[in-house]
Amino acid sequence: MELIVQPDIESLAQAAAVRIMAASEAAMAARGRFTVVLAGGSTPAALYRLLAAPSHLNRLDWLRTEVFFGDERCVPPRHEWSNYGMAWRTLLSHVPLPADRCHRIKGELPPAVAASDYASTLAHAFESQAGTWPQFDIILLGMGEDGHTASLFPGMAALAENSKTVVATEVPAYVSPQVPRVTLTFPVLNAAREVMFLLAGQAKAAMVRRVLAEASSEEGEEELLPAARVRAAQEREDRARPAPGKLTWFLDRAAASQLGEV
Ligand code: 6PG
Repeated sequence: MELIVQPDIESLAQAAAVRIMAASEAAMAARGRFTVVLAGGSTPAALYRLLAAPSHLNRLDWLRTEVFFGDERCVPPRHEWSNYGMAWRTLLSHVPLPADRCHRIKGELPPAVAASDYASTLAHAFESQAGTWPQFDIILLGMGEDGHTASLFPGMAALAENSKTVVATEVPAYVSPQVPRVTLTFPVLNAAREVMFLLAGQAKAAMVRRVLAEASSEEGEEELLPAARVRAAQEREDRARPAPGKLTWFLDRAAASQLGEV
């Protein structure tokens, strides 16, 4: 696991953009396309705006990029709570990504229908890898103060899903907004060539310390907080089940403030 700490969210976005560009170049060279999963919430907005800025706009080959989502709130796409809506406002409406290469989770559908529809989308997008987990080049993730990531929340049944790529889930009572979600499952997150967590703010610092400590602990995977379970096998060098790719935590100084010497 690599830890990258930057002074603030803007410099964090710059560092994450460098990594995304590098991954895109490698993917284009190797496979002729770049598959990226966008995170929801509010933190990634700074990165998305940067990728859409004149300084970066033409540094990704959008015509050969495929955009997906790690999770979605079950609301219409232009709703203020929609993760797709946030990405549309900050990035997707500003870049020349062909419409058929933007694969949103259809939050306007009933949750189970949206999950099944998105699973079909993934199966089609990765049909050459039939029988294996879809392997994205980059999966961007955030983390909540409770240690959730994507829409994999502590104590929810979705954490145990190990045969489906996508599931619908309710959210715990303390979560806002109180709407059902659709989320990628751990096997898909763990199959990615690279996972990038992007976190900022003092409010996350305690959970960052706890999750990074858990990720390298000997605790059983089922005991871990959701964010600690991403690449847990790799983190704990579970040689029986080595995870294939990279894991990088991008933190601003505030979110890293309880990690001691960084
Ligand atoms: C969501 C996200 C979720 C998010 C975290 C952090 O749908 O809310 O997928 O996992 O990344 O809740 O959100 P913030 O970036 O707003 O703190």
